[in-house]
Amino acid sequence: MEVHLEGLSLQPGARIKVKGFIQAAAKLFRINLGKDEQNIGLHFNPRFNYIGDHNVIVCNSRKGDRWGAEQRETNFPFEDMRTVEVNFIFEGKQFRVKLPNGHEFTFPNRLEMEEINFLSVYGDFYVRRVDFE
Ligand code: GAL
Repeated sequence: MEVHLEGLSLQPGARIKVKGFIQAAAKLFRINLGKDEQNIGLHFNPRFNYIGDHNVIVCNSRKGDRWGAEQRETNFPFEDMRTVEVNFIFEGKQFRVKLPNGHEFTFPNRLEMEEINFLSVYGDFYVRRVDFE
């Protein structure tokens, strides 16, 4: 499943809520926020079982064809066959991520984006709902 939203204009203070169902035997899903698919301010990538990674959230940024340094979160409140909601708050200097169990972490706005224009979701995840506040 793949969802792309372009032409967004989400300013600092915006909250992005993504709700979906994790498919059976999920290996991974990805939620990207940025300018476009090449310029990603936050790549949020829960890996259930993917290239040697088990139950870890890999976050990164991407500028052109280069990935930055990964930030890994081992708090992993995801299970297949469950409906979950992940919240992202664009705070300007950083992104704040709220996981379904209430755990929060931040990721820096390395690309110094002033707004978010693009959201994509893909992988083993059926999108049920996307909200912007
Ligand atoms: C790579 C993977 C990309 C992205 C990146 C994050 O190994 O192919 O999809 O997740 O890691 O650092």
